[in-house]
This record gives sequence, C-alpha cells and structure tokens, in this order.
Amino acid sequence: MTTGLVIERFDPSLATEADFVVCHRVMLASQVVDRPGEPPLPLAELVARMKRPMPGSGAVAYWLGRRGGEVVAFAQVCFLDEENSDIGLTDVRVHPAYRRQGIGVAMLRALLPELRIQARRVVECWEVVAGTAGQRWAEALGFRPVRVITRQVLVIADVDRRSWEVDVPAGYRLLRWRGSAPDGVVDSYAVARGAIHDAPLGESGYRWPEWSVPRVREKEAELRAQGLVQRVVVALHELSGTVAGFTELCTHPRRPDWGYQRDTAVLAAHRGAGLGRCVKAHMMRWLLVDCPALERIGTTTGAENAHMIRVNREMGYTALRSLVAVQQELTAVENRLATPRR
Ligand SMILES: CC(C)(COP(=O)(O)OP(=O)(O)OC[C@H]1O[C@@H](n2cnc3c(N)ncnc32)[C@H](O)[C@@H]1OP(=O)(O)O)[C@@H](O)C(=O)NCCC(=O)NCCS
Repeated sequence: MTTGLVIERFDPSLATEADFVVCHRVMLASQVVDRPGEPPLPLAELVARMKRPMPGSGAVAYWLGRRGGEVVAFAQVCFLDEENSDIGLTDVRVHPAYRRQGIGVAMLRALLPELRIQARRVVECWEVVAGTAGQRWAEALGFRPVRVITRQVLVIADVDRRSWEVDVPAGYRLLRWRGSAPDGVVDSYAVARGAIHDAPLGESGYRWPEWSVPRVREKEAELRAQGLVQRVVVALHELSGTVAGFTELCTHPRRPDWGYQRDTAVLAAHRGAGLGRCVKAHMMRWLLVDCPALERIGTTTGAENAHMIRVNREMGYTALRSLVAVQQELTAVENRLATPRR
C-alpha cells in the first residue's frame, strides 16, 4: 500500500550528508538485487554525480519517497538537451524491502508533471536490467522495449595483456591526446566522430550528436569542467592526413580505479582494416602507463552491434548483463496513471 508515502523533490545543492546517505542506501540495496556482481557505487561518487551530473545528462531532477521516516524510493529524470530535448530519461528505484506495494507507480506518477512542464514527448528508461522486476514493471505499465544494450566490463588484472599488442595497419599511424584535439586534426576528428551515427540505436528516440568542430570543443570543455580526463586515440590515414577512426575513454581523479569507455567509431571507407581494435588496444597500453591505479573499465554497446562487442571481447571485456531500454509517449503514461490504482 502507498498509505503514508510522502514523495518530495530532492535538491542536491541543499541536501545534507545524511540526506545523501539515505539515497545511497536505497541505491545500494537495489544494486545488490538488480545488478549483482558490480562493485557498489561509493557514497562520495553518488554525491558528486548528483551535485554535478555527468555531461550529456542535461538538467537532472530527483525525487525521494519516504514512509514513516524511512526513505523507500528514489527517482531521477535527466532532461536531455539538444537533439534529445523531447526525451525525459527516467529512473525509478524502490528499496527491495518495499516492492509490489505500488510505490514504483506512485514515484512515476509524481514526476510526470515535471516532464510535462519540461515539454517532454517521450519517457525512456535505459537502466532496466533484462529479466528483473524492472522489466516486468515497465511492461505492466505499457512501456515497450526499444533497444537492448550490452554492458561489458574489463577487469585489468584478469586480462592477458598480449591481446593489447596490436600492429597499426599499413597506411595508418596513431595519434593520441588528453583533453583537447590538436588544431591540425580537429576538423577531420569532428567528421570521424560523426561515424558514430552508424551505431544502431534500435527504436529509441535518442539521437547521436551532430558533430562539428564547435561541438567537439564544447564537449571537451564540458568534460574538463566536470573534472573528467578525456583520452582519445585516433588512427590517421597517412595519404590524406585525416582521422579515419578514434576511441575515447574518460577517467576521473576522484575514482582512479574506474574508466568509462565512451565512443569508438571508424569511418565507413576505412572499416575492415582492424582500426577499431588497433585504437582500443593502444588506449589500453597507454592507460597502463598513464593510470596505474586503474582496475576496471565499463562500457555499454547496442546488443546488435556485433562488431563492437567482438572487438571489446578481444580486448578482454566480459559481458556483465543486458539492459533493456523502454519507451512510452508521455501522454500515454499520463493517461494510464491518471487514476491512482490503490
Ligand atoms: C521496477 C521497480 C521500480 C518497481 O517498484 P515497485 O514499487 O515494486 O512496483 P509497483 O508496486 O508500483 O508495481 C506496479 C506493477 O508493476 C508490475 N510489477 C512490478 N514488479 C513486478 C515483478 N517483480 N514481477 C511482476 N510484475 C511486477 C505489477 O503489475 C505491479 O502491479 P501489482 O503488484 O498490482 O501486480 C522496482 O522493482 C525497482 O526499483 N527495480 C530496480 C530499478 C528498475 O529497474 N527500475 C525500473 C526502470 S526505471
């Protein structure tokens, strides 16, 4: 029953340490049940992310559900921007001890007015772990699966490092940088970044960024402002002097054991030469020297993107789980939840 449930907005800029601790407790309890095998998200990391959301999230709003003084649920919506400003990216988590009492639905209902105010057309959830309560809940509420995402993880200590000894294909050479693309290659780097558009997005409403030089500079600045260290390895086509492919990985000094593998793409004209594997292998060798405290790297890839998943496997990544992205029009969610169930 949702009797006694009080749902209120949570403002990280005004929150106390104790407020974050109770949010963290819900996240951890959910993680144990829904995402076993992943190291727990440290409290300090949760606080930092809530106070300063990751680049690409847009503005983020949070809600807490309390009952009898206990925090029993947590919800967040990322109001994605630019190409994706019609999407409200939503995550609802209920403490496992309080599930099947209508709290998840009540949390979703509570955040709908803000989605409407922020002019969102669709509600998407990307963090639904396949086969868990989250998937059954989403289906029961009329969400449809639009994309399956494979989450892979690389544990450096477990990998045979010989798999990172990869020759550079003839006709190419590698270039790497931290933080800011050299002026001499930034034009063709922006073009190469556009190759990510060939990566499948299923039926999600999400759109990849339209890359341009100003966009590259803007995104680099956002990562810097967040304290993230962005490393990029590109394969340069020697004949034309242009970027044929690249890989991008971020680390953060507050969590030196973790890396976030971001985009990797090769322009269509240069595919099939092994460049994806080559730039990723070089990135790993660079990280070994540059980030000795690094232990794990996480990445997510569309499940149908067999090439990228295979390259990752060759680098030593193992599949951790499948996530199902689900979607529903905001109007449909509003109609479905118009009448309280209990
Ligand atoms: C998904 C989640 C938020 C649901 O919270 P909840 O409070 O247990 O859900 P509700 O009580 O509101 O469930 C509403 C309906 O969803 C369906 N449902 C929810 N959990 C279910 C389960 N484990 N098995 C089958 N149906 C389920 C049922 O139809 C349920 O209605 P009923 O209990 O009257 O049969 C919770 O399981 C959770 O935190 N999971 C981890 C995070 C996640 O996956 N979030 C969803 C994506 S944003």
